[in-house]
Amino acid sequence: MTTRARPAIAAMAYHQGAFVPFAEAGLPLTTQALQYGTGVFEGIRAHTCADGGKLVLFRVRDHYERFLRSCRLLRIETGHTVDELVEITCELLRRNGTTADTYLRPLGYKLALLPGTRPGVGLSGVSDALSITGFPMGAYTPPGGIRCTVSSWVRPRSAAIPIHAKVTGGYVNNALAADEARAAGYDDAILLDDRGRVCEASTANVFAARSGRLLTPPATADLLPGITRDTVLALAADLGIETAEHELDVSDLRCADEVFLTGTGIGITPVNEVSGHPIGAGEPGPIARSLAHHYARTIRGGGDVRHHHWLTSVRIDQG
Ligand SMILES: Cc1ncc(COP(=O)(O)O)c(C=O)c1O
Repeated sequence: MTTRARPAIAAMAYHQGAFVPFAEAGLPLTTQALQYGTGVFEGIRAHTCADGGKLVLFRVRDHYERFLRSCRLLRIETGHTVDELVEITCELLRRNGTTADTYLRPLGYKLALLPGTRPGVGLSGVSDALSITGFPMGAYTPPGGIRCTVSSWVRPRSAAIPIHAKVTGGYVNNALAADEARAAGYDDAILLDDRGRVCEASTANVFAARSGRLLTPPATADLLPGITRDTVLALAADLGIETAEHELDVSDLRCADEVFLTGTGIGITPVNEVSGHPIGAGEPGPIARSLAHHYARTIRGGGDVRHHHWLTSVRIDQG
């Protein structure tokens, strides 16, 4: 995969109720989420519009609905509705004078023990906080596709750790898998459950195409049912591509005509190889290419008008 230096964080952050310079948005070492992984996060993208100028957030309400669901699970009270979170995000983009594709990272977290709470791991009796940062980010995977390995790390069951929510502590599993893959020379890892069924990649969902039909593991499996996954299922329907939620194992991936990953960060990224086995012709296939084309148009407001409700315009005053 192309490795690029991470661009600088945007100058302003939203931090605990105020817009502040990023450099001043610090946290104490005693932050509970730092010690116990009791935070939740989202990854949201804003893109410049197809017709130039305007900035649009993609499915921001869906992201914040998932964020608030994740918060509820960890008893994190942000004190904000979805509408308010969207408005704070738009204001953050405005305060940063954002004019380029940007990745936004809302983080809800357990902060400090409230008076009378015994020290130790827990969720109740701990104060909550919300911070949002952003940084410029365009596409970071090569359009020519990536190479994945199957991780030796097993995806935990949702009964052990809530996989359907974006809980910071749970991402230790993803980090170990991604690190193992990169150390072995691969771009990303595909994680299986303890019965050998494909769950997802380190930060993306997995699709396989077989005889023109698109398969992806069911949303009820031990995976994060991604918003991009949902977008791809809708775009596939528009294109007349048959889709099904279906359990997959590693041999299903190896025998597939195409495999690709989907996620807010990664977009739609073809997988050319899984653990040394070329997928199809070992290059991006027609279904992934077509979906990636339509996805790229859709996120910038150039797609089907039926999907324009996925877009939220951000008015940026250029001074
Ligand atoms: C573990 C995991 N699976 C899947 C996804 C894809 O989700 P989405 O398409 O909502 O970004 C992500 C990224 O958020 C992720 O972290």
